Amino acid sequence: MSLRRIRVHAPRCLFTRRGSCIIFIIFIWLLFYHLPAPPSTQNNTRADRPPPEHRVEDTPRFIYRSPFRNNPDVQYEKQLSNALEKIEKAVLAQSQENNISEDRIWQIAKNEKHRGDDSIMFEGKNKEWEYTLVTDKKAIEFMANELSAIPEIAIIYKSYPHNVLRADLLRYLLLWYHGGFYADIDVFPARTIKTCPALEPFFSPTPDKNTQDTYPDVSLVVGIEVDEPYASPQFMRDWHWTRSYGLIQYTMYAPRRFSPLLRETIVRVLAHTRQYNSEHVGFFPSLAYDEKTILGVTGPDIFTDAILETLSSSLPLTHPFIQQSVDADADIGDLISPVTGEVQKRVTWAPFHRLRDPVCIQAGEAVPNKSMGGLCVLPISIWGNGQRHSQAGGFNHPKACVNHRFGRTWKKGWWEYIFG
Ligand SMILES: *[C@@H]1O[C@H](CO)[C@@H](O)[C@H](O)[C@H]1NC(C)=O
Ligand SMILES: *[C@@H]1O[C@H](CO)[C@@H](O)[C@H](O)[C@H]1NC(C)=O
Repeated sequence: MSLRRIRVHAPRCLFTRRGSCIIFIIFIWLLFYHLPAPPSTQNNTRADRPPPEHRVEDTPRFIYRSPFRNNPDVQYEKQLSNALEKIEKAVLAQSQENNISEDRIWQIAKNEKHRGDDSIMFEGKNKEWEYTLVTDKKAIEFMANELSAIPEIAIIYKSYPHNVLRADLLRYLLLWYHGGFYADIDVFPARTIKTCPALEPFFSPTPDKNTQDTYPDVSLVVGIEVDEPYASPQFMRDWHWTRSYGLIQYTMYAPRRFSPLLRETIVRVLAHTRQYNSEHVGFFPSLAYDEKTILGVTGPDIFTDAILETLSSSLPLTHPFIQQSVDADADIGDLISPVTGEVQKRVTWAPFHRLRDPVCIQAGEAVPNKSMGGLCVLPISIWGNGQRHSQAGGFNHPKACVNHRFGRTWKKGWWEYIFG
């Protein structure tokens, strides 16, 4: 009897309102989470179409303030920074070498099986470079050995609920400690590293790594990912942006070890994570980190801010970057303090807007006692090509040195594929 009742009722319940509602939700969930990766746009002319109409504002925005900087734990950050500097001093004293990095490519993947064709090609095309794939296991070993003086690093690393957070912190640590070239495993080598024209100052025959004097005194080379300071709020929502400008951290080059710019990034990642965890992480840590938080705790937002703010605190007030930033703000007023009414003299995005050629500042341009280790910023077309905004140019732009497939998230991938 009871069996019959079930037989009779089970199919019917599928058609009740609640039943179809649940099925519909499951269907949508399956669609969202099991959507395959979008077709690759590598060498695909779609990526080379002219940009769609972008809604823009009259006033650009050259400065953003991270919510994580409202109440930073200055004491903790200072302590971490000193501990990192101590490692640096010990390593350099022990090796009695200069701080120029060896030619080594670093990539991060869970294990060897996760490498795709792009990664194999990246290694194969750059035969003169050593190559290390940093797997989960190697990452833990690196922290337990080389970084053992700061156990907090491994603790925070292991505490992250998502791979993307771990991979972000790890890339900063690897390039800070070892120097060298970092690329995500979905980065395609449009040219070899040494034949990339934008990197010529580091590889032309003249600068000899053994004669410190002629080698550029630059610790970090970065590219541009987004450069749309005039973007309207709708434009930014369409692209899932929290900022209208930003630097790339899926490809980075550290010609010298122990970049103070990376040190500051690492310090902030650790401090922001600690602060965020203490306020948000409860029973479901994996739900605590949404897209926006990841960008601000370990991703491009924190990286961009750490660099702009380290430049601001280390360059003399007469430096062209500060002058350009202050001049660009004259009609905007974002640098005027609401309290004192005075103009804050600092570096904003303005010097990097619509950059046509690489710009470099050498370590020696900092004021005495403040180090930033030197920085080069490459125009967007070098590493950030293949995007239909920011005048990035297509994947086959003549100056392109890598093509990023943007395989990170289904959201961004499909959005770009369908809407450009
Ligand atoms: C590397 O060494 C040079 C020369 O001693 C120095 O000017 C530079 O600041 C150092 N760079 C870093 C990142 O420590
Ligand atoms: C730089 O640091 C040294 C040693 O810490 C100190 O003696 C000197 O006064 C500092 N110079 C400036 C300009 O702050």
